[in-house]
Amino acid sequence: MKTWQVLLLCFAFFSAAVRYGTCLEEELTDSVFGNFLDPLKDLLPHSKDDNNSTVAKFSLRKPSHPDDDLCYIIPGNPESLATCTFNSTSKTFLVIHGWTLSGMFESWVPKLVSALYQREQTANVIVVDWLNSAQNHYVVAAQNTKAVGQEIARFIDWMEETTNMPLNNIHLIGYSLGAHVAGFAGSHATNKVGRITGLDPAGPDFEGEHAHRRLSPDDARFVDVLHTFTRGSLGISIGIQQPVGHVDIYPNGGSFQPGCNLRGALEKIANFGIFAISDAVKCEHERAVHLFIDSLLNEQDAAKAYRCGSNEAFDRGMCLNCRKSRCNTVGYDISKIRRPRNVQMYTKTRASMPFRVYHYQLKIHFSSKMNISEMEPSLTVSLYGTKGDAENLELKLKGNIVANKTHSFLLVTEKDIGDLLMLKFKWEETNGWSVSSMLKMVSSWWSGNSDGSSMDVHKVRIRAGETQQKMVFCIKDPDAHSFKREVTFVKCKDAWRTNSKRAPKRVTLDNH
Ligand SMILES: *[C@@H]1O[C@H](CO)[C@@H](O)[C@H](O)[C@H]1NC(C)=O
Ligand SMILES: *[C@@H]1O[C@H](CO)[C@@H](O)[C@H](O)[C@H]1NC(C)=O
Ligand SMILES: *[C@@H]1O[C@H](CO)[C@@H](O)[C@H](O)[C@H]1NC(C)=O
Ligand SMILES: *[C@@H]1O[C@H](CO)[C@@H](O)[C@H](O)[C@H]1NC(C)=O
Ligand SMILES: *[C@@H]1O[C@H](CO)[C@@H](O)[C@H](O)[C@H]1NC(C)=O
Repeated sequence: MKTWQVLLLCFAFFSAAVRYGTCLEEELTDSVFGNFLDPLKDLLPHSKDDNNSTVAKFSLRKPSHPDDDLCYIIPGNPESLATCTFNSTSKTFLVIHGWTLSGMFESWVPKLVSALYQREQTANVIVVDWLNSAQNHYVVAAQNTKAVGQEIARFIDWMEETTNMPLNNIHLIGYSLGAHVAGFAGSHATNKVGRITGLDPAGPDFEGEHAHRRLSPDDARFVDVLHTFTRGSLGISIGIQQPVGHVDIYPNGGSFQPGCNLRGALEKIANFGIFAISDAVKCEHERAVHLFIDSLLNEQDAAKAYRCGSNEAFDRGMCLNCRKSRCNTVGYDISKIRRPRNVQMYTKTRASMPFRVYHYQLKIHFSSKMNISEMEPSLTVSLYGTKGDAENLELKLKGNIVANKTHSFLLVTEKDIGDLLMLKFKWEETNGWSVSSMLKMVSSWWSGNSDGSSMDVHKVRIRAGETQQKMVFCIKDPDAHSFKREVTFVKCKDAWRTNSKRAPKRVTLDNH
């Protein structure tokens, strides 16, 4: 078993057992503790925190050696700044790692260092090494975050005095427990630093705590947070669920990141035990780091996030409006919008870099004399644009189709299809309806054979999140009537007067 797997197992189980002891099967927990944590106790170095005078070291990494600690800046020793060629007029990043069992930096650290130098060539990228205090049982490491943060605060104060650098140039980037370390550093520094980015801040021992005991918006002039593993599928939440910054972004709702296959892993637990989930846990938690790296490297492909009251509303496409800064850029280029209350934002992503997707809202009004509430067709949509196509996207119908109501759907495409020209709806199968009777019924909807009990779809309204374009689509061939598995919509010719009294062309959904 690789070291980080042990690390994650223990992270998951130790935190679960400490805070949510009842959420897991007792025997399972006991056996895991019995098998792993006891021997680990002996492996762990003791008394690491007896001497708290040097809990953090500050390594100024070089663009040419993002993986190597070649030069440490020593607080109280101004020559070390010159030795390490610290540039006091540039931006300074402090990268702060999280909990560790291996006592070594994880592989994302040099990747983030490289990405920061790629974007800001003259920057000072300092990796904060608090591995000694982080290499402990999770609960102890969590308690150490405050002392480490205080030491970083003294370092920041000393740098400010020594170099006269503007604190607005300081950006702390903390992952997991490191996010709370950054929070303590920010709150204990004499003057406020410019920005703190929390990358999936740790949840256990911090969720629900007072703002002084965790990362919070008071800790810097601007605090932005990415949440990628907030939902405890086992009752544990590795990342903190509550908003803790000025802007909190929940990619994919804050859990079940594409490509991590947490769902699949959870299903395998029964057969393969808890080992099945460790990969998925690491993948979900660390996704926040990779989203941030992506934002540094792919500036022109920046992903957008949208303010929304809930993830459910976002999943129905309700929140793609950017007016009054209701949308923002994910990651490094975020607009520093501060409101009295936290702003929660959502976005969907791809499974790998570049993570951005293109969001669309589809609004469809189904009008009918009859309430055909038991209808639950499963539809797919294909989008055709000036730059490409995105075919067979699933249209998720949450609940039944209700007559005389506008239904809203979210669609995402992985590639940029340019300006939308045409859409095609297809129906495949359905809950509780036989495929053939469904096919008969649904195909007759679109056929134009309207009678008293029909469902009419007049048009489809679309908002593209990324471009903020609004479009109205009408049925392409309203007079064709035959059994069809699909129906095509094109831009309405008279879109500008779709609100006029003139009867629009309509497609009829006959319910026989
Ligand atoms: C603790 O730190 C002090 C001052 O930095 C040092 O002199 C001492 O040797 C350290 N003690 C241990 C046990 O490491
Ligand atoms: C550790 O730090 C605390 C508070 O900063 C201080 O009171 C205590 O004396 C320190 N202990 C050691 C061993 O340096
Ligand atoms: C320091 O940074 C500034 C801008 O941030 C840049 O103009 C200058 O060339 C840098 N100095 C050195 C020695 O790299
Ligand atoms: C839908 O609205 C139409 C026209 O206003 C009305 O005739 C019809 O009864 C309504 N259908 C339902 C199910 O309420
Ligand atoms: C149609 O169904 C919806 C939801 O089930 C209900 O709120 C509405 O009153 C119904 N309308 C008629 C006319 O039955």
